Amino acid sequence: MRRSLVVGNWKMNGTSESVRQLVDGILAGLPQGKAVDAGVCPPYVFIPQVAQQLQGSQVLLGAQNVADQDSGAFTGEVSAPMLKEFGCQLAIVGHSERRMKYGESDALIAARYQKAIEHGVRPILCIGETLEQREAGQTFDVVDEQLDAILNQAGIDSLRHAVIAYEPVWAIGTGRTATPDQAQEVHAHIRQKLAAQDSTVAEQVQILYGGSVNADNASELFAMADIDGGLVGGASLKVDSFLAIVQAAGENS
Ligand code: PGA
Repeated sequence: MRRSLVVGNWKMNGTSESVRQLVDGILAGLPQGKAVDAGVCPPYVFIPQVAQQLQGSQVLLGAQNVADQDSGAFTGEVSAPMLKEFGCQLAIVGHSERRMKYGESDALIAARYQKAIEHGVRPILCIGETLEQREAGQTFDVVDEQLDAILNQAGIDSLRHAVIAYEPVWAIGTGRTATPDQAQEVHAHIRQKLAAQDSTVAEQVQILYGGSVNADNASELFAMADIDGGLVGGASLKVDSFLAIVQAAGENS
């Protein structure tokens, strides 16, 4: 049985004060005794502060990206060993905003993923199609290609230490969520594709849904057989909505 997981991707939002309040609120209201893990991915600069606040709690700490190198002349990058030193257990890789706004290629994303795996930081690999690709009937081809880049570089076994997030680009930050059936169809496809290489990995890997998840739609999404939780942007910036989503995942696990 897969545990549920809900991760907040705060993107480029917050001040040290708003972050302090958000984490305090999450810690105070986290549902107890449910089969769900919760995590937060603050902007890099807030990671030490959030790590301190989370000490002794079960809430996971993650980064929003990770370098494809360990150290050296790579201006603007933060490496997996650095993230580890500050207590990060997770790192998002391949987010569509990185792919589309910053031109990150499948090859670069695979190298970032590989570094996270190598250093024991659990990557949350984001994959998903654009609206044009969906309308052209290319959804499965797109996610296959994005997954293949990872499988060819890091191998199927690496997914024992990773999480997948299916995030249709057209649903991110738009308020337009995939329907539970639309999301389930792609999640099942991903699992089937992995099962062709390793049925145990396919059965065990957590596949999160991301794209306008909120307190109102979380339950019906998480009720689907192959949706194991969510990667949540906008709704993770408010204590109440984030906690409601975590609660919904706990009830559906
Ligand atoms: P959203 O973002 O929940 O604001 O749509 C999700 C994500 O980008 O991970």
